[in-house]
Amino acid sequence: KYPGLAATPPMGWNSWNKFACNVSEALIKQMADAMVTTGMRDAGYTYINIDDCWHGDRDSLGFIHPDTKRFPSGMKALADYIHSKGLKLGIYSDAGSQTCGGRPGSRGYEFQDALTYASWGVDYLKYDWCNTEGLKAEGAYKTITAALRKAGRPIVLSICEWGNDTPWAWGQNVGHLWRTTGDIYNCFDCIEDHGTWKSFGVMAILDKQEGLRKYAGPGHWNDPDMLEVGNGMPANEDRAHFSMWCMLAAPLISGNDLKNMTPQTLAILTNKQALAINQDTLGIQGFKHTAKDSVDTWYKPLADGAWAVCFLNRSSKPVALNHNWTIVTDTLSHRDFNPTQEKYSVQNVWENKKATTTNTPLQAVVPAHDVLMLRLVKMK
Ligand code: DGJ
Repeated sequence: KYPGLAATPPMGWNSWNKFACNVSEALIKQMADAMVTTGMRDAGYTYINIDDCWHGDRDSLGFIHPDTKRFPSGMKALADYIHSKGLKLGIYSDAGSQTCGGRPGSRGYEFQDALTYASWGVDYLKYDWCNTEGLKAEGAYKTITAALRKAGRPIVLSICEWGNDTPWAWGQNVGHLWRTTGDIYNCFDCIEDHGTWKSFGVMAILDKQEGLRKYAGPGHWNDPDMLEVGNGMPANEDRAHFSMWCMLAAPLISGNDLKNMTPQTLAILTNKQALAINQDTLGIQGFKHTAKDSVDTWYKPLADGAWAVCFLNRSSKPVALNHNWTIVTDTLSHRDFNPTQEKYSVQNVWENKKATTTNTPLQAVVPAHDVLMLRLVKMK
């Protein structure tokens, strides 16, 4: 894969969760504009990613072209526009004969498509897994990786197989991120069965991340799918979802209508402390330490000996915490959170409160389907 990319989890926006197949040049430009005017770009969201259904047909030489009704100015012009805003452009294809939306896939055209994307100025490729009969995932993704390397442009590769072929086991040198599940939808705690295909609410996806953290790190991330923040869940559930994706060092690809979002949605997506936890330079995925009384407690080691701690209340009733700070060891990174020997300041991520310290027990109420997220920094 192209080296030096995605040193921290990629941040951006993608059309699928909100707009599905309704993509167009006008929509993508509007989202790019909104990324700038809302301050999301300056908060770190860089990629504007077009998902399925942008495609027209291949020409007689096999070159792919965008649908001219939807993208009348062509992809190069769109990439130029996105770049002029200080943003990057992402595009979508599929390892099979057709995309999930029935558009032309890249099978048999991998090297030609990679050259085309590079000539347009594309910066990110999400590569889906529909209609791949007879293909093996690892080999198919290695083909597009080789094609992208040959094309010579730094392009992030997002592997969108859905976890059945254990992409975490072979993805590290193939792509910059890989999906770990089927599709997310805007429901806190449910699973939807579409016959042979399942969609997952955010908690169901969270439960599937156990055991995968050892595969993630700078340049290669587990991808529990794109964000549903601002797509219909109440603010507490959006906040819990976003917090957990930060604890997981997950890619933060927003999936809402950036032009029509509430101040609350924007505040969730741009919370500086939550983003700093996600974008921490160590790039260590957090882990669930305990699950007790419907509260899951997660820890994530951060640079300079700091830690993020997140109490997630999965029940539909508020839970009162009375938490004594004790030693927690991360056996994977060999780091200790040791409040018996060190004193840490305790800063609430979502509420602007005076910091406390680990010398006193933590007493707080975590509302239903919400989090208490903290940043703990070693004091001198
Ligand atoms: C399946 C993927 O998992 C989704 O994220 C989306 O890209 C759709 N395909 C598009 O058809």
